[in-house]
Amino acid sequence: MLNPYLPQSVKVKKIESLTPNIVQLTYRVSPKRISLRKSLMFTPGQFVLAGIWGVGEAPFGLANNPFETQQQAIVVRNTGGQVTSALHRIKIGDTITIRGPYGNGFPLKKMKGADIVAIAGGCGIPPIASLMEYIVQRRREFGKVFLVYGASDPKQFALREKFTYWRKHKIDVVLTIDKKHPGWRGRIGYVSDHLKNLSFDPEITYGAMCGPGPMSRASAKILCELGVAEQRIMVSEERKMSCGIGKCQHCTCGKFYVCTNGPVFSYNQIKDSHD
Ligand SMILES: Cc1cc2nc3c(=O)[nH]c(=O)nc-3n(C[C@H](O)[C@H](O)[C@H](O)COP(=O)(O)OP(=O)(O)OC[C@H]3O[C@@H](n4cnc5c(N)ncnc54)[C@H](O)[C@@H]3O)c2cc1C
Ligand code: FES
Repeated sequence: MLNPYLPQSVKVKKIESLTPNIVQLTYRVSPKRISLRKSLMFTPGQFVLAGIWGVGEAPFGLANNPFETQQQAIVVRNTGGQVTSALHRIKIGDTITIRGPYGNGFPLKKMKGADIVAIAGGCGIPPIASLMEYIVQRRREFGKVFLVYGASDPKQFALREKFTYWRKHKIDVVLTIDKKHPGWRGRIGYVSDHLKNLSFDPEITYGAMCGPGPMSRASAKILCELGVAEQRIMVSEERKMSCGIGKCQHCTCGKFYVCTNGPVFSYNQIKDSHD
């Protein structure tokens, strides 16, 4: 029987420094070893457990175009912890370990035909970026699409080279920083402050968000006030994880496990959980 804890070793083929403390690692994958072998290699919102032999592993949302068959990318913020620090020391050609993809991802079938309000805060951008890449490939299947992305200052926006590409595909990218910063002429305030000005139809809208808990809670609440049903507001949750496959109870969120029932939940499922 295949040991579910056994990761595959993959070689890092590209390292990009996205912000002063965030890197993107791209590694080759063998299609034979990926669990989903349909046209989609994973569902945006799913995560992998990435690590280094002898150090440990941690969960990271997949950030790339899910139609890509040869490679995957993770975006890693260095928290100063063991795993993220070690992943920041990786060089091109080094080996890292990968398990997954795990979790549910965003409900793409249900989202078809909808207006989309995607919201990302800080290092919550990877699964949202992957969702944007999916939408670009299937642009005619969606209505209006907005991405509202917040960071503490302009240097903290990751994957910024994607913004022009997404805008070319009629995704309205709204960038905001928490407070005034020299040279910044864009929006100021939290992502939740800018949702009221977007022209979407709440009856046919899906929200999709990933970022710090307070950001998601505030944004979900505002989308509700604007008329989006709680069941259509999808929130990607983060918890400390160990097994990633529903065995260890490290990742509980109310009555759910984030690793197997999530990480993407509808707001009505998690709005009363304060863990
Ligand atoms: C489903 C999921 C997807 C994630 N996607 C990404 C991603 O795409 N990019 C990214 O940079 N990070 C992501 N994270 C967070 C990432 O897993 C943690 O930063 C990482 O586990 C820290 O490991 P460490 O050994 O370096 O630090 P540790 O020594 O474990 O912790 C260092 C610091 O990070 C905090 N921390 C640890 N784990 C988590 C967690 N799961 N959530 C919030 N804070 C945590 C600790 O409280 C501590 O303050 C994700 C987490 C989950 C659950
Ligand atoms: S990480 Fe072990 S049960 Fe979720």
